[in-house]
Amino acid sequence: MIVTVTMNPAIDKTAEVDELIIGGVNRLKNIRIDEGGKGINVSKTLRVLNKPNMAIGLIGGNMGDTIRTKLQKQMIMADFVSIAGETRCNLKVRSEFGMTEFNEPGPNVTQGELEDLFDRIKRHAKSGTLFVLSGSAPTGVPDDTYKKMTEMLHQCGCKVFLDTSGALLRRGVEAIPDYIKPNLKELMELYDVKTKFDSSEEIIEFAKEKATDLNAKGIKFVAVSLGADGAAFCDGLETIHVPAKTIEVQSRVGAGDSMTAAIAYGLDSNMYFRDIVRYAMAVSAAACMTEGSQSPTKEMIVKFLRQ
Ligand SMILES: Nc1ncnc2c1ncn2[C@@H]1O[C@H](COP(=O)(O)OP(=O)(O)OP(=O)(O)O)[C@@H](O)[C@H]1O
Ligand SMILES: [Mg+2]
Repeated sequence: MIVTVTMNPAIDKTAEVDELIIGGVNRLKNIRIDEGGKGINVSKTLRVLNKPNMAIGLIGGNMGDTIRTKLQKQMIMADFVSIAGETRCNLKVRSEFGMTEFNEPGPNVTQGELEDLFDRIKRHAKSGTLFVLSGSAPTGVPDDTYKKMTEMLHQCGCKVFLDTSGALLRRGVEAIPDYIKPNLKELMELYDVKTKFDSSEEIIEFAKEKATDLNAKGIKFVAVSLGADGAAFCDGLETIHVPAKTIEVQSRVGAGDSMTAAIAYGLDSNMYFRDIVRYAMAVSAAACMTEGSQSPTKEMIVKFLRQ
């Protein structure tokens, strides 16, 4: 069983304008409303892969109700803690400048609400369950929260997949989660590297070196996603780089979350390393073929897996 945890879910409102007028009135068209937030994205991709999973986290207000309803319609099990604040709504507008995003920081979370989340997690923490802890945290949540969650889950005999950024990742890694998937920026932050790389070769070398280093620290499976430069993987026996598929990208949003879902799926199904890598690459490439933060389609995943 896989459980995803989203502390900072969102409604993603995607729309288009013919011409973006800064400081003026813009008429939106082709409006789409999707439930989002990183753990929820993982749950949606796992659903496409036919993997039973449960989405939990913190949710509030009308936006929270919309997310609950949308997950229910997709037959994704959910058990969110209700909070007093309103779940955020992120607006993404496509125009002649590309995609312009307006992201809310998320609601304030009280100490009590965070404790309720820990209790809720514990309720689902049956031994052997894989927890995917994913994404940012709303205001009021301390940087060591994923670290504490990881420690608690390990005590319950659960496995932890951590996919986050900044201080949450840095502190989280201290608890040695079982699996992680930073992207290049997150990995650079983790190692406090500020220098720019001159070539893809340098980036790939850096990713492989740090993936191996993190593995040596005890993280059993490390994936470093590098966008169009593919991804590096390390399971302790081998460290490999796989180039990305040449595709006509519709939207990169959520490609990393889909890769996390694919790896979680492979690990929870006891797949071989190289098969997990194939799934990770096929599913994330398929995610780039859908608009906005929509999940990859089964047809596209199957097609790419064959290749
Ligand atoms: N332009 C691209 N062409 C081909 N494949 C891509 C492209 N961008 C992303 N991918 C695939 O998706 C994977 C994950 O992408 P990326 O590194 O952007 O994740 P991320 O930054 O974590 O994304 P997210 O916004 O979902 O957190 C890449 O490793 C690659 O396999
Ligand atoms: Mg990511």
